[in-house]
Amino acid sequence: MDSAYAVELKGVVKRYNEILAVNQVDLSIKTGEIFGLLGPNGSGKSTTMKMLLGLVQPDAGSVSVLGADVQTDPVGVKQKVGYVPEAPRLYEFLTGIEYLDFIGDIYGMQTSEKKNRINEYLKALQLEGREGDMITSYSEGMKQKIALISAFLHKPKLLILDEPLNALDPRSARIIKDFLQELKTQDITTIISTHVLEIAQAMCDRVGIMYQGKLLALGNMDELRQMAKLPDSGLEDIFLKLTGTGDIRAVVEELLK
Ligand SMILES: Nc1ncnc2c1ncn2[C@@H]1O[C@H](COP(=O)(O)OP(=O)(O)O)[C@@H](O)[C@H]1O
Ligand SMILES: [Mg+2]
Repeated sequence: MDSAYAVELKGVVKRYNEILAVNQVDLSIKTGEIFGLLGPNGSGKSTTMKMLLGLVQPDAGSVSVLGADVQTDPVGVKQKVGYVPEAPRLYEFLTGIEYLDFIGDIYGMQTSEKKNRINEYLKALQLEGREGDMITSYSEGMKQKIALISAFLHKPKLLILDEPLNALDPRSARIIKDFLQELKTQDITTIISTHVLEIAQAMCDRVGIMYQGKLLALGNMDELRQMAKLPDSGLEDIFLKLTGTGDIRAVVEELLK
């Protein structure tokens, strides 16, 4: 594998019975890139991300992550990757600090480094003072912050973040965005799925648009504009045109009449 790539998918297919969730996807993501995975609900984003982690086995094709084959070295890959799933399930009867401590131990972190990093993140994300409360008592946004900290804690080389900013207040979303930019300078790769198109437009180097299991379009903003033949447009127009849902506008206009 070419080490310039953090992730390489070749001819990847995943079926769930009659549903073709991912259909012949080829995708190479460069080391240090912030890559946005966009697409309407059910287009195959989460399934693609789970295949990168070895949580879902592809029916065909190959998945290579940080130079390792996910199928032959699933543990090695997980050690180097931080993952925030779409709906993180935390151990809610632990306190925030107990949970993060537990995650740090799973990754074999040294006690002092673990404690320092946990405290820094709790402070940055304004959870200080609440870390001793049980996670059940947290708001959705606070739980999301704990999930993000657990993904960042062991300094992974690759972050796979499945719609991570959804429940966050603007300030915290901004902190995460800036943090990902900072990690980029350390050659850490981020794959982020989102349906908030402004986020993708503002922070991603390249974007892949998925639709019905296929990678419909791939490129930076300029390339996507050319592909959609919309030279002056933002990502929303391009997205709607490429996914054939451009008539949403007409529907909305009709509703507003
Ligand atoms: N565990 C599963 N069992 C059956 N079907 C699934 C499962 N996970 C996802 N799917 C189906 O695969 C398709 C892609 O889903 P998903 O990857 O979650 O899309 P996205 O994340 O883009 O919303 C959808 O049709 C979804 O219903
Ligand atoms: Mg999803």
